Order: sequence, then C-alpha cells, then structure tokens
Amino acid sequence: STKRSLLLLPGDGIGPEVMRQVRRVIDWYARKRGIEFQVEEGLVGGCSYDAHGTPLTDETMARALAVDAVLLAAVGGPKWDNLGFDKRPEAGLLRLRKEMELFANLRPAKVFDALVDASTLKPDVVRGLDIMIVRELTGGIYFGEPRGISDLPNGERRGINTQVYDTHEIHRVARVAFELARKRSNKVCSSEKGNVMESGLLWRQEVIALHKAEYQDVELSHMLADAAAMQLVRNPKQFDVIVTDNLFGDILSDEASMLTGSIGMLPSASLGATDADGKRKALYEPVHGSAPDIAGRDLANPIAMFLSFAMALRWSFDLQAEADILEQAVENVLSTGLRTGDIMQPGMARVSTSVMADSILREMDKLATA
Ligand code: NAD
Ligand code: IPM
Ligand code: MN
Repeated sequence: STKRSLLLLPGDGIGPEVMRQVRRVIDWYARKRGIEFQVEEGLVGGCSYDAHGTPLTDETMARALAVDAVLLAAVGGPKWDNLGFDKRPEAGLLRLRKEMELFANLRPAKVFDALVDASTLKPDVVRGLDIMIVRELTGGIYFGEPRGISDLPNGERRGINTQVYDTHEIHRVARVAFELARKRSNKVCSSEKGNVMESGLLWRQEVIALHKAEYQDVELSHMLADAAAMQLVRNPKQFDVIVTDNLFGDILSDEASMLTGSIGMLPSASLGATDADGKRKALYEPVHGSAPDIAGRDLANPIAMFLSFAMALRWSFDLQAEADILEQAVENVLSTGLRTGDIMQPGMARVSTSVMADSILREMDKLATA
C-alpha cells in the first residue's frame, strides 16, 4: 500500500520549536507501531518570504494539494508586520486554506481534569467541558470583495472589508456541524449577528432551512455572537457544537482556549469536502500563533501541536486507537504535574518544550506496551 504522506510547515516564531517535537512523535509511530509516514517539509510565512519573497511559493502550494495531510505550526511575527497584505506571513496561511478549500475548521475545547485549576475561570465552570467550535474558514470578511485601503479626495484614507456568504457556503459548514453533533451531544448552536448584518440573517435562515430539511433530530439553537462570547465564559457547558462564521469563529475560539487553561492547549483541523474516493483535503494547526514573545527559548507549550497531530491521525488516517495513545499520554503527563509556563500552577513542575515532549513520548512508550 502507498505510504501516508505528510507535509510539515513549521513556519515562524515558536512554530519550528513545536514542530521539531511533533517530528519525534511521527518517528515514534514508525519505530514503535510500524506506522510510517512519508514526511516532507516546506516553508510558509515569514521564513518563506525571507527565502523566496513570498509567504507561500506555488511549489509549496502544489505539494500541499498533493499530500494526504498538512501540519502547520504558526506563521507571523513583528519582523514582517509592515509588509503589504499579499506579502505578509498570514497571507501564506490564508492561501493554503483557500486553495485547499478547507471550509470547515474544527476547534475543540476540552478541559483536562489536571488543568481545571489552570483556567482563569472557576473550576466548577470549566470542569468536564467539551465543546467543538466549527468555524467557517474560506469565506466571510476574510476573503470578501471589495477590500483594500484607498485614498479619498478629501485627504483621508478608507479601509474596506466585505462580509459575503452564499447559500452553499453556509450549508456545507452547517452540515459538518450537524454531523459532528450527532456523534456528540446532539446540539448545535449557530452564532451570527443577524440583528445587524444581512449576511448574518442569511446565515440564520439557511441554517434553519438545512436543519428542517435534513437534521431535525439535532437540537438547534441560535445565539447572537456577542451574547455567545458572554455565555462562553458565563456557562460554557451549555454548548456542544457551535457553528459560526470565519471572524466570529476566530475570536470565539481564542476565548474558548482560555477555558482549557491556555491557548497553548488548543488544536484544530481544517477540512475540505469529501470526494468520491472518501478522501478530503486537510490541514492541522494549533489555534495559537507564533508567540514572538517566547520564541526561540524552548518555552512554548507543544501540546496544541501534538493534539493537532492526533486530530490528523483521526481525521485523515482513521487511526483512532493511535490517536488515543497520544491524547492519553498528554493527559497522563499533565496529571503528574508537569507544566510549561503558560499552564504553570503553584506546586507544579515547570518544564521546557523539549522536556514536556520527552515526557509525553515516554508515556506513549508505557501506554503502547501496557
Ligand atoms: P499568539 O497566539 O502568537 O500569542 C498570544 C499569547 O499566547 C502570547 O503571550 C504567547 O506567548 C502565548 N502563546 C501562544 N502559543 C503558545 C504556546 N504554544 N505556548 C505558550 N504560550 C503560547 O498570538 P499573537 O501574539 O496575537 O500573534 C503573534 C503572531 O502570530 C502574529 O503575527 C499573528 O498574525 C500570528 N498568528 C498566527 C496564527 C497561525 O499561524 N495559525 C494564529 C494566530 C496568530
Ligand atoms: C488563526 C489565526 C489566523 C486567522 C491568522 C494568522 C490569519 O488567527 O488561525 O486563528 O485569523 O485565521
Ligand atoms: Mn486566531
């Protein structure tokens, strides 16, 4: 059989530090489980701009389209913050999402028991939390036209972005949310601002129509996005699956990350449509960014990146038991009290990125032989 292929895009800042540790996990699966991946590495973001004058080359784009799955760590940083929009590191990531047609971004926020006290919220509010944010990823205000900055005759300047959603874009992401809910607690909360935005009103109407036609068994509710932001910290356990647009999903998922203790904990899977052979394009990335403030010091939490690889094992390679090993190892190591700085708590042992990874790998050894 052909080997499973992976393209690794470490990117900028802490990206290479956390990707280096994932490489060890990938090697572990080959050595200890006989599961081999054909791994290639490429440039995206600021590092690609420095090497090639563009945040993503056509060649890397083509490789991303050809492999079974892409793992991306993070892009961006102050060094590139004054470039034009098409040259910025973030443009490389946005091009990957758009050209791979990764319209559904799954951002699970799960609270590990060991980290209940690491959250800034009260333990009772977050204990046992398990929600899934489904963020629309290839449309909305991130991509709508017209956009740009222009000079006005009166000497002022104007910045423009446009929120656009068409029926099929809403249906396909809502479908992903309904299907996921059926395998979870069977609840979907759709979030927009249909009270002020026509695109939000259309979103709500189309979600209702799809629900009526195909998903009446799933409990559907609607919440304005500002209220959802509030409810997410007031009583997050009321939610199961939240489906929302590109921008609101970006914001609500950063907010949800703090329920779990740190943005350094949150993985994501960006998925395209399933084709006739049952295959779908996919890119796996942590929710966090390049963390310029801690980059290059072996301080970053590698867990979001590890859990993103676990999502790849589940979603792209159907290796459920193997993903269980990785996720269980993370949970066990957290239970022993090891913490990177972002999830540090009194009385716990503060460790580096690499020591956290060492410990997780050792725990995987134990779980695999148990
Ligand atoms: P950020 O997520 O990089 O950092 C926010 C805060 O969280 C920082 O204090 C950082 O140290 C901390 N943090 C993030 N990840 C961590 C980890 N794994 N372990 C420990 N601490 C962690 O967000 P930002 O500072 O707003 O953005 C920095 C750059 O990253 C920007 O250029 C932005 O565009 C980019 N960014 C990229 C992605 C991506 O590649 N997917 C996502 C978000 C932001
Ligand atoms: C994310 C990031 C990206 C986004 C940026 C870096 C383009 O914040 O993946 O959450 O806004 O989608
Ligand atoms: Mn974000």
